Amino acid sequence: MILDGQTKVYGIFGYPVKHSKSPTFQTAAFLYLGINAVYVPFEVNPDDLEKAVESLKVLKIAGVNITIPHKENVINYVNELSEEVKVIKAANTIKNVDGYLIAYNTDWIGFIEGLKELEPNLEGKKVLVIGAGGSSRAIIYGLLKENVDKIYLANRTLQRAEKLIQEYKEYFRIVDKIITPISLQDIETFLSDVDIIVNTTSVGLNNEDFPLFDYNILKESQTVVDIIYKETKLLKAAKEKGCKYQNGFPMLIYQGAKSFEIWTGQKAPVEVMKKSLGL
Ligand code: ATR
Repeated sequence: MILDGQTKVYGIFGYPVKHSKSPTFQTAAFLYLGINAVYVPFEVNPDDLEKAVESLKVLKIAGVNITIPHKENVINYVNELSEEVKVIKAANTIKNVDGYLIAYNTDWIGFIEGLKELEPNLEGKKVLVIGAGGSSRAIIYGLLKENVDKIYLANRTLQRAEKLIQEYKEYFRIVDKIITPISLQDIETFLSDVDIIVNTTSVGLNNEDFPLFDYNILKESQTVVDIIYKETKLLKAAKEKGCKYQNGFPMLIYQGAKSFEIWTGQKAPVEVMKKSLGL
């Protein structure tokens, strides 16, 4: 790669950011397509987020991804929110158009594209989503756009699930018929009714974490997604049952691919991006 005076700069704002895989696969995509650009990690302290976003204009940085813990706060500091960001209330991508910053959310499409590798047709499906935080909001946005039939939304704090439904009612018709909030304790009651199970919480990140429900009751016909980037106990149980299953890497790759397309206007080389991470 030869850098010169015209090299465009892209990056990711996170805290921490050291473990991010995005610099690896975004750089692989730029190299593959011969685009004169770099993608670098920026560790941004939460107190400095506003200044960091302003700096995009000053330094003419062409675009950034936004990751934990900035996805919600960042929307206060940009010039324009795209439609999905208004609903999801979180952004993971900024495009700098001549000093005018537009925020996008590509997590939802990243999730859907990843899931479609296992379930090409989501219309009419019944889904259990565990967790009602930022990732869950993006995933539910995607599932509603794909016309799923039913979403059981299980969360430790039930009010948070109820709040999500109230807020989404403004944007999606009959959302209160499609989404039913349930407690974590109720998961086992509803499990046999669903086609797809998605864990969006951090439970499972550590091996000693308690299971979210009795994983032995999974059925072979069910598809299981855990957005954590490893084979969690939930995924191990899914594998043993013969279920179709997926960890967080497909969502990561496809959200990044969509960000790449927003920035460059070119089709992202998804297979190249996957290969750069050994996937
Ligand atoms: P993200 O952006 O990754 O979704 P978040 O917005 O902080 O992160 O949301 C974290 C989600 O994980 C929430 O649904 C949270 O449940 P609460 O709303 O009750 O806090 C869930 N979560 C985190 N730790 C959990 C635990 N130990 N048990 C159950 N749920 C947990």
